[in-house]
Amino acid sequence: MQENKEQRPYFMNYSHSIYTRASNQPRALSMLSLLILLLNLTNHAFGENPAIKAILTNKGLQYGSHIGADWMQEKIWSMIIPDISGGVDIGIGTVHYVLDGISVSGCDVPEPSVEFYEGVGLKTGISGFSISMKGNWHTRFGIISDGGSFDLAVFNVDVTSVVQLGSDYSGHISISSENCDARISKASITFHGGASFIFQPFVTLFKDQMTALIEEKICPMVEEHVTDLDQHLAEMQVSFKVNSALVLDIPLTNPPLVESIGLGLDLKGEFYSVQSHTDPPFKAEHFDLPKDDGHMLSLGLSEFTVNSASYGYFSAGLLQAKINDSMIPKTSPFRLNTTSFGPLIPQLPKLFPNMLMELQVYARDVPMFSFQADKVTQEFPGAIKAFAIQPNASRTPLFNLNVDSIFRGMIRISEEKLQGLMKLNNFTLTLASSEVGTFQTAALEKIVKMGVEVSVLAKLNAKLEEGIALPTMHHIHLVNPVLKIQQGFVSIASDLDVKSAERESISEGIYPYQL
Ligand SMILES: *[C@@H]1O[C@H](CO)[C@@H](O)[C@H](O)[C@H]1NC(C)=O
Ligand SMILES: *[C@@H]1O[C@H](CO)[C@@H](O)[C@H](O)[C@H]1NC(C)=O
Ligand SMILES: *[C@@H]1O[C@H](CO)[C@@H](O)[C@H](O)[C@H]1NC(C)=O
Ligand SMILES: *[C@@H]1O[C@H](CO)[C@@H](O)[C@H](O)[C@H]1NC(C)=O
Repeated sequence: MQENKEQRPYFMNYSHSIYTRASNQPRALSMLSLLILLLNLTNHAFGENPAIKAILTNKGLQYGSHIGADWMQEKIWSMIIPDISGGVDIGIGTVHYVLDGISVSGCDVPEPSVEFYEGVGLKTGISGFSISMKGNWHTRFGIISDGGSFDLAVFNVDVTSVVQLGSDYSGHISISSENCDARISKASITFHGGASFIFQPFVTLFKDQMTALIEEKICPMVEEHVTDLDQHLAEMQVSFKVNSALVLDIPLTNPPLVESIGLGLDLKGEFYSVQSHTDPPFKAEHFDLPKDDGHMLSLGLSEFTVNSASYGYFSAGLLQAKINDSMIPKTSPFRLNTTSFGPLIPQLPKLFPNMLMELQVYARDVPMFSFQADKVTQEFPGAIKAFAIQPNASRTPLFNLNVDSIFRGMIRISEEKLQGLMKLNNFTLTLASSEVGTFQTAALEKIVKMGVEVSVLAKLNAKLEEGIALPTMHHIHLVNPVLKIQQGFVSIASDLDVKSAERESISEGIYPYQL
């Protein structure tokens, strides 16, 4: 957009400089919003081993930056630019002016550069940004009013910004502006219509003033947005409900670790029962999550995270089931009654002839998971209480069994949930107490083992099939996740995809005071 000698720029003492907020906002900040939404940080105390770790690689950073760039381009077109007004001293008096109806008529937003800035945070840069605008001008000089239209262009804007990443006392990620630098190499303005020729001689001076004014506004604008983002982070959702029984808390346990090749986050990663919200009687162990530069993100979930979920279910009393005869398949010759138990416990049908029975199966303690290379083991300390159902429906206790099972299996990722399938590996049954005298348990063990497989194991697998949600956001999807079971933790390396239809709402969410 060249100056047109026929057109007359006319105001000089450009006293208001509201201009285009955010037109030069480094888009890379949107990448941060993405990252933060992805990790959905919550608040809690420090001083524990993290049970979930995340590493954002350079590949992930570049993807986030790219999404930010797309979003920024769309935003610039719909940006609302406030009116500009002021007065210009032209030697024989002051011309009062108003520029209004300003809209973006074109923009060229180059891809920003983003890199990790070791020990600090992120360094973002945008170079060669241009934007053109059009609008109307109105002047008043004494009693003379005049008006017309104008075109304005700002070329080759360069902005570099360094933001520092940290954490606040409650475990949110924090962000602050560490450094900012902005340069505009060229601006041009042309006026159309009215008596604008009067101001033609002042066009260069006006342009230089305006360029300087815009230039010095850019960094405060960037800083304002960093502050807004920090504020938004500090207010983010503290924990999220995974299902009707569990909530997951993932505040930072340490400040973010920024290295030249990636950003590491240590998160609490503890599930709680919605009801009791108590800590389990075990602690998170230290683990090292390996970097995987081929994927955008690596996540590590320790045994603790999974066991805290297990504890949550246990403490909410959800790991129990009642079994009665109506649950035994009709075709089974073995019924859940004292007659069927006769061959196993000879005295039982004598004491309680031909009565239906009920079994209460429950976890005696928290079922604990452990991870070793490529396999998951779960020890289930179970118990069975057996009752005879009297004709008047009252339950008469018969005996208590301890049933210790070791399940082993595999886990996988499906639909962004951790899912699995377990098999019964070891099984021992012992008589803990009896109201009907002692008896041999070998034959009973075989039958109960079968019962465990069709009831408890089936229930457990149903739970694992329902899945434990991974700490990702609904807008951000895992692409080709690779899950590995390692010693003490599970690692998931994945690429990410933000669905374009959902980008808008992500941006809205993170920038409440957008443009
Ligand atoms: C067996 O359990 C089911 C489900 O809990 C229940 O509806 C049914 O009444 C029980 N049957 C007996 C005989 O208690
Ligand atoms: C108990 O089971 C036996 C088969 O073992 C069956 O013949 C009998 O009818 C059952 N009794 C009751 C009360 O269900
Ligand atoms: C139910 O029947 C049993 C056995 O006959 C008896 O001991 C018990 O007191 C009865 N309970 C009720 C509530 O009637
Ligand atoms: C599990 O079963 C295997 C083989 O039956 C046995 O060697 C092992 O000791 C058992 N483990 C436990 C913890 O009971």
